[in-house]
Amino acid sequence: MSATLATISYIGATILFILSLGGLSHPESSRRGNLYGMIGMAIAVLATVFGPHVTLSGIGWIVGAMAVGAAIGMYAARTVQMTQMPELVALMHSLVGLAACLVGFANYIDPAASANLSHAEKVIHEIEIYVGILIGAVTFSGSVIAFGKLSGKIGGKPLTLPGRHWMNLTGLLVVIYFGGVFINTQTVADGMTPLIVMTVIALLFGIHMVMAIGGADMPVVVSMLNSYSGWAAAATGFMLNNDLLIVTGALVGSSGAILSYIMCKAMNRGFVSVIAGGFGSEGAMPAAKTDGTEPVGEVTPISATETGELLREAKNVIIVPGYGMAVAQAQHTVYEITKHLREKGVNVRFGIHPVAGRMPGHMNVLLAEAKVPYDIVMEMDELNEDFPTTDVAMVIGANDIVNPGAQDDPSSPIAGMPVLEVWKAKTSIVMKRSMASGYAGVDNPLFYKENNRMLFGDAKKMLDEVLVALKS
Ligand code: TAP
Repeated sequence: MSATLATISYIGATILFILSLGGLSHPESSRRGNLYGMIGMAIAVLATVFGPHVTLSGIGWIVGAMAVGAAIGMYAARTVQMTQMPELVALMHSLVGLAACLVGFANYIDPAASANLSHAEKVIHEIEIYVGILIGAVTFSGSVIAFGKLSGKIGGKPLTLPGRHWMNLTGLLVVIYFGGVFINTQTVADGMTPLIVMTVIALLFGIHMVMAIGGADMPVVVSMLNSYSGWAAAATGFMLNNDLLIVTGALVGSSGAILSYIMCKAMNRGFVSVIAGGFGSEGAMPAAKTDGTEPVGEVTPISATETGELLREAKNVIIVPGYGMAVAQAQHTVYEITKHLREKGVNVRFGIHPVAGRMPGHMNVLLAEAKVPYDIVMEMDELNEDFPTTDVAMVIGANDIVNPGAQDDPSSPIAGMPVLEVWKAKTSIVMKRSMASGYAGVDNPLFYKENNRMLFGDAKKMLDEVLVALKS
């Protein structure tokens, strides 16, 4: 393939990636967005493999590596549970970071990469390598720790070492100092020492940064690492002089940063305070409780039959799904109930919290899979003021996102997080298996409110019973 054709293919792929991101911004166009992304990636890979920079002997290696990677990817995609998605995503980010590090070292060692460069060009090339490895190493180790925390292999409690901010600052100064040393070295052998010292510090920084972040802030961390992985890819693009990688990396980096911002807003957290870590540590916990799981009052249970009766008499119903709906795979029964109620003239709508479940858009994906019409799936802000005129608010496996303590209890770890105000409905029904707390590990005063009912049991099983009661 000629260089011109490769460039044209890269431009085509870039346009498809931008269209893909645009498509993914709405459930209705998301399938199309995915398709654009897949076609763009296929074009990008083909143009690279058959482009002017790959020799015939290299193609065998690339095809072999792609076959191994594709096999692992297909296996992971087939076996991973929807609820394990954030872990998988974190693991994938770690690979992008690792790739940036390896490309950086290979690029530095390769004499051909810096041959025929003027002094100024050589300095720029070395800065690209240094920064690329730095971002890559932070992304790699940070993502591995995020994977460990999300999969429960590492505890969710933030690790707050004494003087940790000073430690980070010292690490940064050392990295800057060694950056200067690195650029002024004359040989590859001399440059290796500062490069390795910086890599070790960056790896430790990544570990320390994510270890210091509490469980409740992990969603933001994953999307922040997503952003970092984009910048790591862009840095790799600079090292390899690959424009497509630079543009794609920048797209991932900036969209990840925007997503982090949106999630911070949804959880009422400052981005800097998330990165600084320590959230969810003992100091921030309510004084009277340690793990936030002890009951603080009486709850009123309800049966599936009684729930069916309440729903049958209702005119306005709002369903608030959460992580438990995903665990129970109850979305299809939710759809059946919705269909039945709508046929009887009940106004049914869904209230989606931006961080419901375990990944952005988790609930939207499940509801779309169950064919729930998009026009009755509303965002929290669109719906919150309608709860006082709602007869039944049905909470399905959600907990933190409907916790009134976020508004009433300034000492709560989730204080200030915007929540769906289900307790303002005439009756709220919470479906969950026990009195256990949710992701943030805090008790939920909603359960003890006078107008709240608890429907204990697996969400799918309970909803099946509610459906039978509704139809009888
Ligand atoms: P959670 O607060 O985690 O509550 C989910 C509830 O579902 C649990 O209390 C659990 O109670 C119940 N549950 C689990 N399995 C169930 C089943 N089979 N049937 C019925 N109920 C079941 O979930 P949420 O309200 O969706 O809030 C999300 C939380 O996750 C937030 O704190 C958010 O910050 C965090 N988070 C979000 C994301 C993103 S990006 N969405 C990513 C990571 C973390 P029982 O055990 O008693 O059944």
